[in-house]
Amino acid sequence: MNHKYRKTVIAANWKMNKTPTETRTFGAEFRRILPRGRWCEIVLCMPAICIPAGVKAMRDTRVNIGAENMYHETFGAFTGEISAPMLVDAGVKYVILGHSERRAMGETDADINKKLIAALEAGLTPILCVGESLEQRKSGVTFEHITMQLKLDFQNIQPEQLRRIVVAYEPIWAIGTGLTATPEEAEEVCQHIRTVIRKLSSAKTARATSILYGGSMNGDNAAQLLAQPDIDGGLIGGASLDPEKFVKIINAANQDAE
Ligand code: 13P
Repeated sequence: MNHKYRKTVIAANWKMNKTPTETRTFGAEFRRILPRGRWCEIVLCMPAICIPAGVKAMRDTRVNIGAENMYHETFGAFTGEISAPMLVDAGVKYVILGHSERRAMGETDADINKKLIAALEAGLTPILCVGESLEQRKSGVTFEHITMQLKLDFQNIQPEQLRRIVVAYEPIWAIGTGLTATPEEAEEVCQHIRTVIRKLSSAKTARATSILYGGSMNGDNAAQLLAQPDIDGGLIGGASLDPEKFVKIINAANQDAE
């Protein structure tokens, strides 16, 4: 983390877990145990149907609500899709884009690029996910793969817009497996991401970009990961479903600030 230049972001990705009722239950407990007056940015990304309950439950707190996906068009005949302006109107501030689970369902870098542009235009903060598979890591093409994802996803995005994007490094082999990348492995790739951003925009933008790590992050390993200079937070799946476990990670991020 580097608090001087960029914000620390601790974001939950609930994925397809929790009903609106469970969102209310989580919210009530989370509010009760939420550490107060600290500086790290907290985001709860949740299924679209939970968003109204999430926004209501977190009202008058510093917790932001995020979506897990969106469509790039603003409105029209796109049955089942949700647009960026709809999310904004519902009180959403962040949106996860390009998660590996969505890429596995067929989402391409061209799709993600269009979504990034639409999200920025609507005033949302995108959390762009990139990461390599186990095969890619074993073949030694991790850096090349991530460079390619970033270049394609950032097509036609102006440097001043790029500054508003949060990037999450999520090695696919570490997601939901309990196999966390070591702090050194995660740092090496996050540092590489910052270098690519520097080349695509400027040193100033690269320095200001929050880069998160995601993949089996929990209360026990968060502090070590967050102690790395280029890891500015976490995107947390499993350990974000329980308020107490999630607060442990927030506390790990806050500790470093004291
Ligand atoms: P887990 O924390 O469950 O490994 O999930 C990580 C993730 O995919 C967050 O987007």
